[in-house]
Amino acid sequence: MVVKAGLMREQMIDNFNRTIDYLRVSLTENCNFNCIYCKPYPIHKPLDRVVLIRFINIFANLGIKKIRFSGGEPLVRKDIVQIIKETKKINSITSISITTNGYLLGEKIVDLVNAGLTSVNISIDATSEELFQAITNHKRVDVVIDSIKKAIDLGLEVKLNAVLLKKYWIQQVDQLYQLAKENGVPLRFIELMPIGIATKIEGLSSDLVIPYLEKKYKKAELSFIKGNGPARYLNIDGVDLGFIDALSHNFCSSCNRLRLLSTGEVKLCLYQEPSLNLRKIMKLNDAEISALLKIIIKDKNEHHNLNDKAMELSMASIGG
Ligand code: GTP
Ligand code: 5AD
Ligand code: SF4
Repeated sequence: MVVKAGLMREQMIDNFNRTIDYLRVSLTENCNFNCIYCKPYPIHKPLDRVVLIRFINIFANLGIKKIRFSGGEPLVRKDIVQIIKETKKINSITSISITTNGYLLGEKIVDLVNAGLTSVNISIDATSEELFQAITNHKRVDVVIDSIKKAIDLGLEVKLNAVLLKKYWIQQVDQLYQLAKENGVPLRFIELMPIGIATKIEGLSSDLVIPYLEKKYKKAELSFIKGNGPARYLNIDGVDLGFIDALSHNFCSSCNRLRLLSTGEVKLCLYQEPSLNLRKIMKLNDAEISALLKIIIKDKNEHHNLNDKAMELSMASIGG
């Protein structure tokens, strides 16, 4: 299919026959929270908008259809609405999402939706003010909860994310299950991955959480429904509960994603060292950059090795 000015839209298929059509873009290393398992330390200047949109266009011509903006916290970028507006103009991009801690979402949400946002994943690790503060080092969980309600009211597709910590997990599970039930939205429990400061904190395997849920909700046996992302889902009394358990249940065989960091680096896998820095090759033309991307995609890891070796880079830099 001819797309524009003689450029053919292509597909990226890696050496393990996985089609890569999803790009996670970290917009900044900066964050307004300081979660105990993440602790961002922003040092690099993020790509500016014009350059970023140029790169996203190149990826779109290579078959990327879905974009997720993350960070750090993507909503601390002053030009987030404009970034979404310009991404929306790229015809082949069919889905534009963000992953956010929700604090600034309420005040920006109408503009974000008008700009073309289609869905939002909101991270919330507790609903009691005390536990929320203990984990995020930030006040006012009520502001985040309000954002969740606004997003639902505006018709966005909403999912909640929570990283479970060994020290607090029972309170977290109980509080967040209630929140998901009251609001009728899916909730995903994420296994803490040994990345950056998280290596010093204890998470827990979903293999402990599931028996707890079975006992508490008196279900004899819970059966999984596979989602189309990294999560596997259980339905408990009408609530879709997902588990993103990269450590205990590797999902890499169905991986469809690449990462573009705010530094311009391209990461083929969350666990892989960056393969290329687009900022350093900005002077090349689009066709040349595209040709390089098609070569490096063949280096994408078959799977991560998080169980054997922790990663130094912070999750705020990688973009989750
Ligand atoms: P959708 O499926 O599009 O809703 O997005 P998602 O669940 O992939 O994105 P989100 O940003 O909400 O990520 C939730 C958690 O999944 C975060 O902790 C991410 O680090 C983790 N995650 C996302 N993609 C990958 C991946 O490719 N590999 C691993 N190991 N973890 C991932
Ligand atoms: N392991 C797993 N998930 C993490 N997140 C941040 N750090 C980690 C980690 N070490 C989560 C955030 C957010 C998502 C983008 O990534 O809580 O939900
Ligand atoms: Fe894909 Fe790497 Fe994530 Fe596995 S860890 S799902 S290969 S990005």
